[in-house]
Amino acid sequence: MRAIAFLRRRWLELAWGVFAAANFAVMLALPRWETIPFHFIWVSLTLLYGFRLFPAKATVVILAVVFVATGIGIGHDAVVGTQPWDEISEVPLMSAMFLAMVWHAHRRRAALDVAKEESAQREAMLVQQGRFLHDASHELRTPVTIARGHLEVLKRTRRNPSPEMDVALDELERIERILERLLLLAKAEQPDFVVVETIDLEPFLEDVFMRWSEVAPRSWRLGKVAAGALAADPEGLRIALDSLVENAVKHTDTGAAIELRSRASGASVVIEVADEGSGISADAVSHIFDRFARADPARTRALGGVGLGLAIVDAIVKAHGGHCSVKTSTAGSTFSLQFPGFREAEGAAYTSVAGARRLAGMR
Ligand SMILES: Nc1ncnc2c1ncn2[C@@H]1O[C@H](COP(=O)(O)OP(=O)(O)O)[C@@H](O)[C@H]1O
Ligand SMILES: [Mg+2]
Repeated sequence: MRAIAFLRRRWLELAWGVFAAANFAVMLALPRWETIPFHFIWVSLTLLYGFRLFPAKATVVILAVVFVATGIGIGHDAVVGTQPWDEISEVPLMSAMFLAMVWHAHRRRAALDVAKEESAQREAMLVQQGRFLHDASHELRTPVTIARGHLEVLKRTRRNPSPEMDVALDELERIERILERLLLLAKAEQPDFVVVETIDLEPFLEDVFMRWSEVAPRSWRLGKVAAGALAADPEGLRIALDSLVENAVKHTDTGAAIELRSRASGASVVIEVADEGSGISADAVSHIFDRFARADPARTRALGGVGLGLAIVDAIVKAHGGHCSVKTSTAGSTFSLQFPGFREAEGAAYTSVAGARRLAGMR
């Protein structure tokens, strides 16, 4: 068993040993042609080292053995006159070439070790950061909720509640919203962040559409909806779409169009929320999915935003192996979420149109 394990581990070294010994035998048997097997030995050793990077001690021993053996082979032939004496200089030259290779290989390995260590440190830091974010948000939630509760009681029991109370309540609500979103983001790294189920996409999107079209006076449109089964986390998908539609509502005026649609693309589906809103400036759009990204901070704050909605959308979509994108101009924005794991229903084109019509009839 042990011998087999050793053979498995060291088969390349053993193969090289056999190859080198055979070449050494040829050196001795055919002294006139010995420079060919001689070079084979050295080149194959250099090749072997490239794959194996032996420890320093083994390197010295192997180098010494090859140096002495090939030196004796060539030296003997120089003495008996089958090779000129200058051939002997090949031995230190080949050793120097081998050592240069050893040096470069070690430099490369040291650089790789540093990179590996740095990446492990970065990973540990990220885990620590995530845990801190989660714990801090979690711990802050309770005192904020208690403070808000007390303030609400105070406001209710006071005969003339001061306007400062409303400001304080608004701010506490804002903190609660931020904490909730931070908690959600902190969970994004955990393996159970998304629990995938099979979602019937058409009724799911219709439901999102119906909920929103009833709360905001916009020119709501349900575009073509690809019907089929999507493997996704329903809660995550709902949060992502709600965030996009919420943004579309926030950044459009009454009567402006907001369209929800989806299209199949191979085994993926692209869900889109398009609006006729203010659009996003070119310099803001490049980092719009980052945490705390805000295209227009003053306006965002006035609208009650904190810049975490799209970061959450991005985290949810990425956890599904998909990706987000946005196209924007002064005429409006279109956010697209691409999800893999979609199986389009047969006769989907008909059902999607029928679905849109059915919904139009309901409204
Ligand atoms: N549909 C949209 N139209 C115009 N600007 C948008 C739209 N969606 C997002 N934005 C911009 O992107 C920023 C980030 O959005 P988001 O992450 O949802 O944060 P929040 O809504 O909390 O401000 C917003 O502050 C806004 O400036
Ligand atoms: Mg938002």
